[in-house]
Amino acid sequence: MKGIILAGGTGSRLFPITKAVSKQLLPIYDKPMIYYPLSVLMLADIREVLIISTEKDIPLFKHLLGTGEDIGMKFSYQVQDKPKGIADAFIIGEDFIGDDHVALILGDNIFYGQGFSDTLQSANKLTNGAIVFGYYVNNPKEYGVVEFDQEGKVLSLEEKPANPKSNYAIPGLYFYDHKVIDIAKNIKPSARGEIEITAVNEEYLKLGELKVELLGRGLAWLDTGTSKGLLEANNYVEAVQNRQGLYIGCIEEVAFRKKYIDKAQLLKLSESMKNTDYGNYLKFLATR
Ligand code: G1P
Repeated sequence: MKGIILAGGTGSRLFPITKAVSKQLLPIYDKPMIYYPLSVLMLADIREVLIISTEKDIPLFKHLLGTGEDIGMKFSYQVQDKPKGIADAFIIGEDFIGDDHVALILGDNIFYGQGFSDTLQSANKLTNGAIVFGYYVNNPKEYGVVEFDQEGKVLSLEEKPANPKSNYAIPGLYFYDHKVIDIAKNIKPSARGEIEITAVNEEYLKLGELKVELLGRGLAWLDTGTSKGLLEANNYVEAVQNRQGLYIGCIEEVAFRKKYIDKAQLLKLSESMKNTDYGNYLKFLATR
């Protein structure tokens, strides 16, 4: 399974913060936002990741993440010249995906909670069709929304409906089989001029190949789309990290726990960030 992080867009909902800086590079407490979705793909045992962003921001992501070699990963980069929609990622990423399956995560989606690694690892075992998730929110109008019948069968999907048929939003994390490339190519742009990910999911629903897994309320799916959401995400990460002394979204830690890198390499990485809590945390992991 390959992984794609979509980190494009103008970030206009966060202006002026994102006028000069990509949203996905903004700090969420002590690390750049993109570390969180990247750690999610790593927890799903995905080692080859394509990062899609704007021409202006790709050099910054390359500067931050490099080839991925230092954490036992393989990163590549491609430009999305216009915000043509989330499903455009599969057209841009066609060569990268090759004959494989693919997981897509939006660069501003943050997930954290017990059991999530297991959820991700079983989604990685997908052989056919699509797996997406459903998460109860109080503002479903802002998202793709899924409607179920009494037995939990999916009845409909709608993108940002004015009158949502349920409170279950579909977070920005999707697992697809290889068909997704052709499906994306055949989607017509929506009223806002984008090839919508919800339209892709509707195609899988029509084929009877869409699985919607509900994420429990014990899992945090945080919104970073507004200044208030950003602050809340910062506070959430700070509260959990300081209580436990264990980090959320630490890509070096995931690489170490998955044995992609050894102690010596983790120490080396910690050296490059010494005198910071983050660097000290890596050292603590390597030496305890
Ligand atoms: C996108 C998708 C929407 C999904 C959301 C998750 O919306 O279109 O279906 O629920 O991401 O973050 P956007 O935030 O890009 O408007």
